[in-house]
Amino acid sequence: MEKVKIEKNTVQETLIIPLYGRKMCAEKFPELYTDVFAERLCERLDYDFSELEKKKKSFIYQFGALEAAMRQLDIMWEIKNYLAKHPKATVVNLGCGLDETGKACDNGTCSIVNIDFPDVISIREKLISAYDRETNIACDLNDYSWMDKVDGSNGVIFFAAGVFHYFKTEEVKSLALELSKRFPGGCLVFDSVRKLALKLMMAAVIKNMGMSDVEGYFYVNNPAKDLNWSKKIKVTSKGYMLGYYDMKSPGIHFMHRLLARIGDKGMKMYINRMDFV
Ligand SMILES: C[S@@+](CC[C@H](N)C(=O)[O-])C[C@H]1O[C@@H](n2cnc3c(N)ncnc32)[C@H](O)[C@@H]1O
Repeated sequence: MEKVKIEKNTVQETLIIPLYGRKMCAEKFPELYTDVFAERLCERLDYDFSELEKKKKSFIYQFGALEAAMRQLDIMWEIKNYLAKHPKATVVNLGCGLDETGKACDNGTCSIVNIDFPDVISIREKLISAYDRETNIACDLNDYSWMDKVDGSNGVIFFAAGVFHYFKTEEVKSLALELSKRFPGGCLVFDSVRKLALKLMMAAVIKNMGMSDVEGYFYVNNPAKDLNWSKKIKVTSKGYMLGYYDMKSPGIHFMHRLLARIGDKGMKMYINRMDFV
């Protein structure tokens, strides 16, 4: 089968890290995390995984893979919680990359929408076949014309996993305010970290993609304060690593859990949920 090329040093390359992390996590910690899609997808990509393969045994790298998996498990928890009350809602994956969380949460009645830049959607469409109730939209998220294509009449949950680190704070705020105006009763779920963690995380990305600094980019030190953008938005936040699951699973070292605590408490890693009232 023909392989699909992913260009180096582009925003689209950023989708590789969480995808490979999920594949690795599913291999290494199957009791905690399973992923039927990630391994198959990695095999179909024309991408040099050797750097990532080399790091595979390092403790810190394994922790990074756990991060990708925990983030997906947390977001799935929120989606399932929302769908339990709104079974026909639309589930919208913002900056979807090659992530198939929508399908993993499918209840047979919801609709699924995946949005990313046109080059990423074109790669996605070569690799992943969409369900009947699933639509892909090729668009820059900052161009709000995509919102006209989302049906929120039966409820809608938007989620952005590992995406807003590439946005300016003003862009995230403006997007959230626009969604809250257009989709009352809907909600938006996304991950965030404090400024120091953003600096550490983005060091390599900044170097490779020519961004000058993380200044102006989106970070959250204190969700209740920093995300207090509107009376129409109710914010709740939980720890990203341990807020939903205790990570007590075979193969998870106590040092992984210690780092997870440091991540949540020290690096202020959060999953934030905004309910549009
Ligand atoms: C780190 S990847 C995460 C991919 C996916 N959410 C996951 O968890 O595997 C970031 C994704 O956000 C997309 N992205 C970043 N900025 C975007 C924008 N302004 N509009 C649309 N997509 C964007 C990138 O193309 C990339 O696919």
